[in-house]
Amino acid sequence: MVTGKTPTGRLDRLLANLGYGSRREVQALVAAGLVLLDGQILLKADMHLPLAAKLSDRISIDGVPLDPPPPLSLIMHKPLGVVCSHREPGRSVYTLLPPRWGRRNPAISTVGRLDKETSGLLLLTDDGSLLHRIISPKANISKRYLVTLEQPMRGDEGAIFASGNMLIEGESKPLLPAELQVIEPRQSWLTITEGRYHQVRRMFEATGNHVVALHRDRVGTLDLPNDLGVGKYRLLTSDELRMVMGLV
Ligand code: URA
Repeated sequence: MVTGKTPTGRLDRLLANLGYGSRREVQALVAAGLVLLDGQILLKADMHLPLAAKLSDRISIDGVPLDPPPPLSLIMHKPLGVVCSHREPGRSVYTLLPPRWGRRNPAISTVGRLDKETSGLLLLTDDGSLLHRIISPKANISKRYLVTLEQPMRGDEGAIFASGNMLIEGESKPLLPAELQVIEPRQSWLTITEGRYHQVRRMFEATGNHVVALHRDRVGTLDLPNDLGVGKYRLLTSDELRMVMGLV
């Protein structure tokens, strides 16, 4: 069963790390005959298994396929009104995931953050090294926002944002060039490659305007899928991950 270089792990540890319960609780699940591998009941909680993604197709718990083991990456259509951090007050995006996923080790976290009042494409992962590769300023990954404004634009915003020397309040380092595409006087696309705090809102505030609605529809070359409803999420495919990284 153990092939090549696939790492292996104990069944009870795997289940506990996927949030199915404490070591003791998952041992009880196994003893009760509720854990099946390829349709056969597993009775040894200390058995070693190859930790490969396809385990979800092979193992079931009480008749339900096993949750995907790490590394897990998700794409979510973030709704308005939910926060991206456990520490901020209010309902978080994590409450949109199955409660068991909140007990996983390694933990799932958002890849960067969207404000409570920003909707759109949000990535989540339990892969720390992937997370850092995506949010690292060196990665230069673009993020596109649909911006709706309180006032009509003045006309010079595109040049200011593209200049590479725009300063926003409270910061001494200029922003990297950003691209503005005007749709109509109060609406535009804005593509940025950094992820500073409230960056898009602060950029428009600096031009004397105010953002009234903000939606992210693209990261790298990956668009928010039309069929991913508000508040819904799914596993990110490896092709989509390459699009996030701007490799396709
Ligand atoms: N910029 C903002 O101001 N808010 C976001 O949520 C994302 C980018």
